[in-house]
Amino acid sequence: MRVPLITGNWKMNTMVSEAIELSNEMRSGLDEIDGVDKVICPPFISLATVYKLIKGSSIKLGAQNMYFESKGAFTGEISPIMLAELCQFVIIGHSERRQYFGESGEIINKKVKAALKVGLKPILCIGEKLEDNEAARTEKVVIRQLELALAGVGNLTGLVIAYEPIWAIGTGRAATGEEANEIIGLIRCNLAKLYSKEATRSLQILYGGSVTAANSGEFIKQPEIDGALVGGASLDANQFLSIVRQTAEIKG
Ligand code: PGA
Repeated sequence: MRVPLITGNWKMNTMVSEAIELSNEMRSGLDEIDGVDKVICPPFISLATVYKLIKGSSIKLGAQNMYFESKGAFTGEISPIMLAELCQFVIIGHSERRQYFGESGEIINKKVKAALKVGLKPILCIGEKLEDNEAARTEKVVIRQLELALAGVGNLTGLVIAYEPIWAIGTGRAATGEEANEIIGLIRCNLAKLYSKEATRSLQILYGGSVTAANSGEFIKQPEIDGALVGGASLDANQFLSIVRQTAEIKG
């Protein structure tokens, strides 16, 4: 009953010309695949251009970050209402934002609320460091991140969660399908204590971290995993298409 979702996070990798090329390469192939939500998240500077290129297609647009205020003297920042003109999704709390830009649980909470307020769907990222994983603290860490990010968020409508173990991001060392399925199941169980069972049952929860066309099936076939947040492999149109196609076959 949950529609699978594959999101491509292009990170700080595409020039505008490359974003145009990549969108054009993916558009018709992605349009041929039904039963999967497809989201691409180019850098801010390419959003308006890519928006025009994918208009009328089945591809949805997402941003990689945003500020929580709606307007004003915040030099260099992009607001939720600006994004809502073009995007349906926004990645919030990615571990790279937490690690390199000092985003705290409190800031992430403000961003989640601000996105929901303007109808943007936050793809809220949570995940543990290697040392937490090795010390069997994964559940504790991700549940704490969720509690902070969702403080005061009354319901789960419009929210997507991405479980991304930090040690698996960009390292080529993905979690196993079973490991990711277990943690995502625990996330769902814990959320069911705070929100209605129905709401947690319909919440899309993704796995992210070194997902490729070669290993995506291992994640997608897991019952608790509703799709993937794909970084590096989403920069290759053929790989991204293959991941989406496999998702449609496995979940369809
Ligand atoms: P990766 O990145 O697929 O390159 O590991 C995933 C992410 O950071 O969302």
